[in-house]
Amino acid sequence: MQLTHRFRRLRRTSALRDLVRETQLSVNDLILPIFVEEDIDTPVEIRTLPGIRRYPETMLPGVIKEAHAAGIKAVILFGISHNKDTIGADSWDENGLMARMIRSAKEAVPEMVVISDNCFCEYTSHGHCGVICDHDVDNDKTLLNLQQQVVVAAKAGVDMIAPSGMMDGMIAAIREALDSNGFEHIPVMSYSTKFSSNYYGPFREAVDSSFNGTRDSYQLDFGNRKEALAESLRDVEEGADILMVKPGIAYLDLLSDIRRHTHHPLAVYQVSGEYAMIKFADQAGAIDGKALMMENLIAFKRAGADLIITYFALEAAAVLNSRP
Ligand code: PBG
Ligand code: ZN
Repeated sequence: MQLTHRFRRLRRTSALRDLVRETQLSVNDLILPIFVEEDIDTPVEIRTLPGIRRYPETMLPGVIKEAHAAGIKAVILFGISHNKDTIGADSWDENGLMARMIRSAKEAVPEMVVISDNCFCEYTSHGHCGVICDHDVDNDKTLLNLQQQVVVAAKAGVDMIAPSGMMDGMIAAIREALDSNGFEHIPVMSYSTKFSSNYYGPFREAVDSSFNGTRDSYQLDFGNRKEALAESLRDVEEGADILMVKPGIAYLDLLSDIRRHTHHPLAVYQVSGEYAMIKFADQAGAIDGKALMMENLIAFKRAGADLIITYFALEAAAVLNSRP
């Protein structure tokens, strides 16, 4: 047998495999989502997300310090409001939950990159991502509120704005509001390609949302690949600093598409359903959860992601920190 090339020559030992591995995962790539709920005194376990909790505000500094000690450089904050109304006004109150979380996180560890999830669904009584008019979310009215929200977040000391509502023109509106208030230096990470996905199921329990409608009139249809690329490219035109694909594992084609069309940093959100599937399959003894976690995280990077928002951030950091 005269094979001209044998791929197996470079797979023979673990040192050789390390030498030619194309994709690396680092703790620098990880962003930890944190849930904070108003008016509770002890952490609440989330049944659908084993190991993940909603924390009382008083515990946020400790959570930030723990993440910092694990080498995590960035967190994204989700607030669960007990002061909901039809428009989500608490989210742009200078003493509202979003502003308080940001101040508390920055005070705990000033060098932590504190990112706010900028939306309204956890602050509205109906659970939609904006103002309802004629049975649908009104795009442009929502943008006006979003402008107020991001300025309040910036005044509270946020390091990065991450709008997740999939409103048209949201990046331009945010940029205009930030720049005209002296926050030209605050970057925007857009949830630029966000699908209307069944993978968000466990998140709904995580944020205690009674929401049981759909977001099909603002989030992307999961059958649409060209439109999904166009959404991210539009956000580049509007001034987004970082793009995002969400969810992750079922949408690697979009990571790859966006990677080939822009040179912006690209994030991926490994969402609640992806985390839950791995955790519950591990608990059932069907798969090795830790190994599958690492395989999924590497897959995101291989497909083109630079940053990964993941509920596994602390666990993955522990694996990475334990390597020689
Ligand atoms: C809402 C929001 C959602 C997630 C992050 N921000 C849910 C949704 O769009 O319904 C999902 C995160 C997850 O499932 O982990 N703007
Ligand atoms: Zn929302």
